[in-house]
Amino acid sequence: MRKLEINLSTTKYDIVIENGLLSHCVDYIKTVYSNKKIYIVTDDNVEKLYLKTVMDSLATAYDVDYVVIPHGEESKTINVYANICESLIEKGVKRGNLLVALGGGVIGDMTGFVAASLYRGIPYVGIPTSLLSQMDSSIGGKTGIDFAGRKNILGAFKQPSMVLIDPNTLKTLDNREFNNGMGELIKHGAIGNYKLLEMLKSKPEIDENVIFESLSVKKRVVEIDEFDLKERMTLNFGHTFGHAIELKYGFKHGEAVALGMLMALEMGADLGVTDKSCYDEIYNILKLYELPLEKYNYRDYLKDVFYDKKNIAGTISFIFLTKLGSCCIYKLTEKEIKERFLV
Ligand SMILES: NC(=O)c1ccc[n+]([C@@H]2O[C@H](COP(=O)([O-])OP(=O)(O)OC[C@H]3O[C@@H](n4cnc5c(N)ncnc54)[C@H](O)[C@@H]3O)[C@@H](O)[C@H]2O)c1
Repeated sequence: MRKLEINLSTTKYDIVIENGLLSHCVDYIKTVYSNKKIYIVTDDNVEKLYLKTVMDSLATAYDVDYVVIPHGEESKTINVYANICESLIEKGVKRGNLLVALGGGVIGDMTGFVAASLYRGIPYVGIPTSLLSQMDSSIGGKTGIDFAGRKNILGAFKQPSMVLIDPNTLKTLDNREFNNGMGELIKHGAIGNYKLLEMLKSKPEIDENVIFESLSVKKRVVEIDEFDLKERMTLNFGHTFGHAIELKYGFKHGEAVALGMLMALEMGADLGVTDKSCYDEIYNILKLYELPLEKYNYRDYLKDVFYDKKNIAGTISFIFLTKLGSCCIYKLTEKEIKERFLV
């Protein structure tokens, strides 16, 4: 078992990482919740795999009910959000009750947003089950839904009361979903944890220790920058270029981030910011985890960056590695980019 404590100005909470935790999750939930009623929100894939185990455990101490939504990003809409709220209200949810988000990042983001907004806020516990949600999205308190064709545009900061991670659930993820999570996990190593990168080179099982090392990077950044005003930006390494190619070529997010990291590594090296050896090191780790390695020239995508949300008043903040395990925020104006790279 590994444990991390997230310490924020507004609250603090534990993340417990333990194989087999699902079947006795009640023991942990009892430490943060003493009322009677719990409502689980999950999707139809995770329902079949893990709902019964979690319900059986919680039912030893609580009245438990649940809401199931269709799986996938297509569910992250205002209609599905409204359906969840409606179901919970019909089932009698009260302000002092607890929600449990059982599933991947979609369930975590949506349940968190319901918890932030229903009755102006009720507590929730995250039980993330996909690799991406276990090593990244379940902590930090960003919740939300997609709207008006834009991702995560409606949302709120809402920290969970606790996060419970059972790495055994990763065994049922299909290969592509697993590798999708690996893209972001490798990113955590690249920006802030050299030890994690070294561990990954031997292709270890993604267990309690690997997830702990990955979450340690996010913990550090979130504790410094709870409301995403500066340092959290470093988590966007690989995202600036990744976003430019993700939809265009139909990549999954983590796959696009992998390619975006390679593009950022080249640009950083051309600017003299990134140690040249970083490219090969990261390339080899991405290859080990069967992430895409197509070559895209970052110069061809620099114009897209002008429309990125990281463009603030004509200045774009790039995230570059300095060396393996460390990164920096590097600002360039549109004018500088045009003069230096687009002539
Ligand atoms: N809040 C944040 O800080 C943050 C950070 C990164 C990503 N996100 C969000 O996370 C979402 C992506 O998360 P995701 O990749 O987990 O997507 P997801 O929730 O859609 O899960 C991916 C698929 O895996 C299935 N699944 C989940 N756990 C499983 C398991 N153990 N076994 C088998 N199948 C399982 C799901 O049903 C789904 O079909 C995006 O909406 C993204 O915006 C949020």
